[in-house]
Amino acid sequence: MRHWILFFHLLSVIVWMGGSIYVEALMAAAGRGGDETALMTVFRKVGATNRRLFNLAGVAAIVFGFWLVGISSHIGFEEPWIGAGILLAAIAVVVDLFYATPRVDRVERALNDPESGNDVVPGLMRQVTMASHVRTGLLFVAMVFMVFKF
Ligand code: HEM
Repeated sequence: MRHWILFFHLLSVIVWMGGSIYVEALMAAAGRGGDETALMTVFRKVGATNRRLFNLAGVAAIVFGFWLVGISSHIGFEEPWIGAGILLAAIAVVVDLFYATPRVDRVERALNDPESGNDVVPGLMRQVTMASHVRTGLLFVAMVFMVFKF
């Protein structure tokens, strides 16, 4: 049973962190060409996928993580690496849900509404890209804590 919970914890982490790194690469490649329309198309596709995939994978990683601690006799919440994992994963989910996702929605609304000006869009896109860097960084540090168990 423990192996299955660890399996789903790692599967969620792989989707969350792997997806996050892939998004970074996609956005960097789209931005490099200097083609604003291509960048916007990638941003909108990535934004829609992020909402479904990352928020779900993030919550699943945390739930399976708590479950693992709950059934382990040798691992407790007092371990610093568990505390660090919870803190970093929670910040990453909060940044995604309450910072990045609302901005992705605002970009969609601005682009779908011909009345509103599109001049807010580049600023919002920069903020979402920054949030993406933060998420990738937090997940990387969490991974180091989990593997080395500091
Ligand atoms: C972004 C967040 C996280 C990442 C990247 C991550 C990554 C990992 C990795 C790679 C492992 C395998 C390590 C090993 O077996 O040596 C692992 C195991 C584990 N994780 Fe996480 N994790 C995260 C969040 C959490 C959270 C929030 C909790 C607890 C609430 C948690 C609890 C555990 C436990 C108990 C194990 C099993 C360790 C063992 O059996 O030795 N993880 N995690």
